[in-house]
Amino acid sequence: MTFQPKQITQYEAAHLAELQGDVSETAIKYSLGLIPSFADGDAVHDNAAGSGAVTATIFERLSPGTAIHIDATDVNEQFVAGCKALAESNKWPVDTAVMSAQELTFPDNNFTHSFTSFAFHCLGDHDTAAKQVYRTLKPGGTAVASIWIYMPHVDALQHAHWRTRGKQGPMPVLLPLEGFQEKDLRKALQAGGFKDIDCHEKDCFLRIPDLKRWAQLAWSYLGTLPTGWSQNDEDKWDEAISDIVEQLESGDGISKNEKGDTVLRMVACIAIAKK
Ligand SMILES: C[S@@+](CC[C@H](N)C(=O)[O-])C[C@H]1O[C@@H](n2cnc3c(N)ncnc32)[C@H](O)[C@@H]1O
Repeated sequence: MTFQPKQITQYEAAHLAELQGDVSETAIKYSLGLIPSFADGDAVHDNAAGSGAVTATIFERLSPGTAIHIDATDVNEQFVAGCKALAESNKWPVDTAVMSAQELTFPDNNFTHSFTSFAFHCLGDHDTAAKQVYRTLKPGGTAVASIWIYMPHVDALQHAHWRTRGKQGPMPVLLPLEGFQEKDLRKALQAGGFKDIDCHEKDCFLRIPDLKRWAQLAWSYLGTLPTGWSQNDEDKWDEAISDIVEQLESGDGISKNEKGDTVLRMVACIAIAKK
C-alpha cells in the first residue's frame, strides 16, 4: 500500500458528493435543458459517474412513465459502489461498472446519450476517452461533456501546495497550472470524431457551510502528487488545511451569504456534441 497521511479522508462516493455540493446538479440540470427530452428506450451512459450526479439528476427530472436505462461507470471502485447503492435505493434502472473512460467495454453505436460530466479535465488521455464516447454513441446520438473553466478554490489549493511543499516540485495532477478550457474540450471532442459541437457557459454557486471540513475533503482528493503522498504531507497536513481555509476567506469569486456560508462562484462549460 502506498503511503497515506494519517489525517487523510479515505474517499467514498458520499465524500465526493459533499465536496461538490449541488454545483454539478445545477450544471447538469442546465445541460438537460439544452437537449430534447428523453424518450422511451433511450440508452444513456453516465461516464466517469462519480457519486452519480448525472444519473440522479436525470431520473429526478424524467417525465413519469418514460422508460430509459442508464449505464453508470467510473474508474473508482468506491464511487461505483456508492452509485450502485444510490440507484438500488431509488429502484432506478441502472447498471454500474468499474470502467476506465479510455477502455469502455460497450459495443459500438450503443447509446443515445453519453454524459461525461466534469471529468474531461481530470481523466488522463482525453482524446482516447473522446474516441470511446464517439464510438459507443449511436449515429445521431448526443454527447454532453462539461468542465469547470473557473473555480476559485484551485488557487487556494495551489497556494497550500507551494506553502507546504515548496515551489520546485511537480504540481498535483488535479491542480495543474494550465486549466483545461473550452478550446481543450473542443479539441478533445474533435479528436474523438465529433464535428458538430456547441458550447455553453453556466455560472454555478457552491455553498460551503464549514470551510475547514471542506478544505479537508478538497486537500484529500485534489492534493495528491503524481508520486503520491509523503511523510512531509502528513507532517504539514494541518498547515495545508489552515492555509486553504485562509485563502478561501476572500478573493475573486468568493463571497459570504446571509447565513455566513462561504460561496464560490464556479463557471461550467458544457459541450453538446452530435455524432
Ligand atoms: C469531478 S468527478 C465528476 C463526477 C460526476 N460525473 C459529476 O459530475 O459529479 C470526476 C470523476 O472522474 C472519474 N475518473 C477520473 N479518471 C477516470 C478515467 N480514466 N475513467 C473513468 N473515470 C475517471 C473520477 O473517479 C471521478 O469520479
